[in-house]
Amino acid sequence: MKLNWNKYKTIMNSEWKKYLFWFAHEHIDFREAEMKSILSMFNTDTNVSPNLKENPYWIINLPSETIAHQISSRAVCVKFCMELWANSKTLEELHSKLKSYPVTEIKKHAGKNKSFKIKVETFCKHFPQCEKVNKIEAFNYLPLEGPVRLNNPDTTLCYVEFYGLNPNDIPEKPYELFFGRWITSGQRDLIRKLSLKTRKFIGNTSMDPQLSLIMANQAQVQKGDIVLDPFVGTGSLLVAASHFGGYTLGTDIDFLMLHGRTRPTRITQKIREEDESIAANMSQYGIRSYYLDVVVSDFSYALWRTDMRIDAIITDPPYGIREATERIGTTKVNPVIEEHQASSHIPSKIGYDLTQIYTDLLSFSAKHLEIHGRLVCWFPLFRDQYSEQHLPTHPCLELIANSEQVLSNYTSRRLLTYKKIKDPKESDEVISTNLIDFREKYFALRNESRKEKRQKKAVEKAKNRELWEQNNKENAQR
Ligand SMILES: C[S@@+](CC[C@H](N)C(=O)[O-])C[C@H]1O[C@@H](n2cnc3c(N)ncnc32)[C@H](O)[C@@H]1O
Repeated sequence: MKLNWNKYKTIMNSEWKKYLFWFAHEHIDFREAEMKSILSMFNTDTNVSPNLKENPYWIINLPSETIAHQISSRAVCVKFCMELWANSKTLEELHSKLKSYPVTEIKKHAGKNKSFKIKVETFCKHFPQCEKVNKIEAFNYLPLEGPVRLNNPDTTLCYVEFYGLNPNDIPEKPYELFFGRWITSGQRDLIRKLSLKTRKFIGNTSMDPQLSLIMANQAQVQKGDIVLDPFVGTGSLLVAASHFGGYTLGTDIDFLMLHGRTRPTRITQKIREEDESIAANMSQYGIRSYYLDVVVSDFSYALWRTDMRIDAIITDPPYGIREATERIGTTKVNPVIEEHQASSHIPSKIGYDLTQIYTDLLSFSAKHLEIHGRLVCWFPLFRDQYSEQHLPTHPCLELIANSEQVLSNYTSRRLLTYKKIKDPKESDEVISTNLIDFREKYFALRNESRKEKRQKKAVEKAKNRELWEQNNKENAQR
């Protein structure tokens, strides 16, 4: 359901309240992009740019609690959301602000017949239960008339102390304090529900559920949308998209993968079970009816009708590290397939370099996405070479989010979100990256570091041998 933000602004101005979203301490670079995508999906445009890299919380004015619930019903980075009654840098000020918070507002949620509890959350500092109880008792001036109930109360109030982010430098007093009414949790539970550990069919490139869900949020997948992953692998991204009601389909060049016949990924498993497949995963999560199908096909060749339109494309293209980056082709000049060979012919493959993959992906998205449809894809790179100018661009696609996941000291991948802003013309070309090929440099660096390690080992071995020989000599002389 889409809410009209402007209507809310004018009609319900008096209902505007402050809400606080608290974030999990993970994938920090993705928080802001995820929140912005979700807000815009619900037509809740806000000009406030949160500083979510430094602070794990965001205070935002919203016109209704419904919107806070909607945001939380999608956000994977959010731990919980509360209606903020007071916040301060000192406890004294927090209490004085709370004392002047309208009693009528408090009584809406804490009247005589409403049970309640107060819970204490402390970040970066642990307190025993008895100290938490002391903290709670300091709020006994609040006009809370109903009975206390620890399990399933009508109202949960929440007191939060924030001691910063550095566990090696915890201050005596908190930096920030917050008090409010707990409203709802974010979607962190989904991470466990969709865990790869318990998923029927996985492979060595399956995307973890948290990132898959973030991708679906970046793509603004909504009920009834058509969502495609052109490099579908084991279909992890389809699971996330279908969880949010997207009708999903995919393609992959790997016949064995799509038929669940590749080598099992789990160490404990010797052979794949008969029924391992993307469809089985969808059934496992009760979303089979949102799964359209997958097709074995090479993305570098046109497969779809030219007028086919898709609401979102979410994908993790092959980087050539854990899987081959291949496409159908040959280096032979004028290859001929005899007629008698045609039915059993298995086409040969050639390399499909990253620059070409992204060129194809952006052109395809510009052609097949609906206007305002989104392409969400990963882009691998060497951190020291990164510059936004090197990212692939297309005149019909606007880059609207770009978050980094660090993979090692040298490498990272960026989650890029593009929005289609217009239909392509013949002349519209992809200006693709001119970065050094990721795969080539990755293996060159790896070989170099292996060579260095081997050389170090050889020097150590020679030193040990020298020591041993010297010891032997000294023993013989004694
Ligand atoms: C990084 S994996 C995607 C993993 C997937 N997100 C998952 O959760 O399993 C990239 C996939 O691209 C496929 N691929 C490689 N070259 C391709 C091509 N030319 N056309 C289509 N798929 C290709 C590989 O077989 C591989 O499954």
